[in-house]
Amino acid sequence: MKIAFFDTKEYDQKSFESYAGDYLEFQFYDTKLCEATAKLAYGADAVCVFVNDDVNAAVIDKLYSFGVQLIALRCAGYNNVDLAAASEKIRVVRVPAYSPHAVAEHTMALLLCSVRRIHKAYNRTKDFNFSLNGLTGFDLHGKTMGVIGTGKIGKALIEICKGFGMNVLAYDKYPSEIYGVRYTELDELLCESDIISLHCPLTPETQHIINKNSIDKMKNGAVLINTSRGALIDSEDLLEGIKERKIGAACLDVYEEESDLFFEDFSGHIVNDDTLARLITMPNVIVTSHQAFLTEEALSGIAETTVNNILDYFEGRELTNEVCLRCGNAENRTEEPDPIGAGV
Ligand code: NAI
Repeated sequence: MKIAFFDTKEYDQKSFESYAGDYLEFQFYDTKLCEATAKLAYGADAVCVFVNDDVNAAVIDKLYSFGVQLIALRCAGYNNVDLAAASEKIRVVRVPAYSPHAVAEHTMALLLCSVRRIHKAYNRTKDFNFSLNGLTGFDLHGKTMGVIGTGKIGKALIEICKGFGMNVLAYDKYPSEIYGVRYTELDELLCESDIISLHCPLTPETQHIINKNSIDKMKNGAVLINTSRGALIDSEDLLEGIKERKIGAACLDVYEEESDLFFEDFSGHIVNDDTLARLITMPNVIVTSHQAFLTEEALSGIAETTVNNILDYFEGRELTNEVCLRCGNAENRTEEPDPIGAGV
């Protein structure tokens, strides 16, 4: 079976290469999948894609005409795949869980870095500047964390927050029982949280869940963290909220328009995205380039599940990690959520 991998970096190849052999042949492309690059999948039985590959209807039609039978996402989110277009043509599988701790821990790392000004201190001491002026932070102990989306990652973050002695409020479309956590309506969470962290998927319903209206409801000085998907936040409104001193700090591992920028080296280039450029210049904004997943444990978990998904398909087994409208497990579902940890 030939599998064409798109948007691959050295670390992807390293985590997958031990699975290549007589049965599975891997072709690694560093380019992203889009209409113009879909032809690289000619002759492949499956494609393996990541968060910023654009698997729209036109791309799916091309893949289908080449005889590609499977789209294997090596990530959890699938907002970049047109599931309606894939329906009845190409099956789609994903990696529903791979170390939620990787993302939850990165979330806490960003928060600690921000509120204790570690990013500033690091730069200062590199220059032998040992002044403490402007580095005053605040304790997390006793503060209120508002978690939007309490699935695998949200739950892992909640456990970390409890360890820090924080109060936790939660909002989820499908609330569950979590010891020591109070579920609220979204507005109440926005009003009462000192820190707000986003862990819901990107769907038409959650797109710009953080916008001018929701920012206005937040406490003055609230810290906003997004390690989920960029378009959960209206970036222009966030920038305004920061300029108006309403938002105390923002920690962003994802960005609405990240697909043309993240994972690539643009140092020495003129970046045309004025909103991102302005956000990055803010002293109270920390941006990482969609790296929350990037731990050794997560990479090997991703490779193992992806290869198993591919083998399940080609060896005729049930696709436990399939995502499709027909199966009723896509995020526009109206029924009960997937059991946590059980895949889809
Ligand atoms: P999950 O499926 O376990 O949890 C998502 C939660 O969001 C569920 O509890 C669900 O009920 C809830 N939800 C769905 N629609 C909602 C709505 N309209 N309002 C509020 N809550 C809603 O997913 P998991 O594994 O926790 O991942 C969460 C997200 O994190 C993924 O969708 C993905 O976008 C992002 N992610 C980011 C990574 C990174 O490297 N930055 C890596 C992995 C995931």
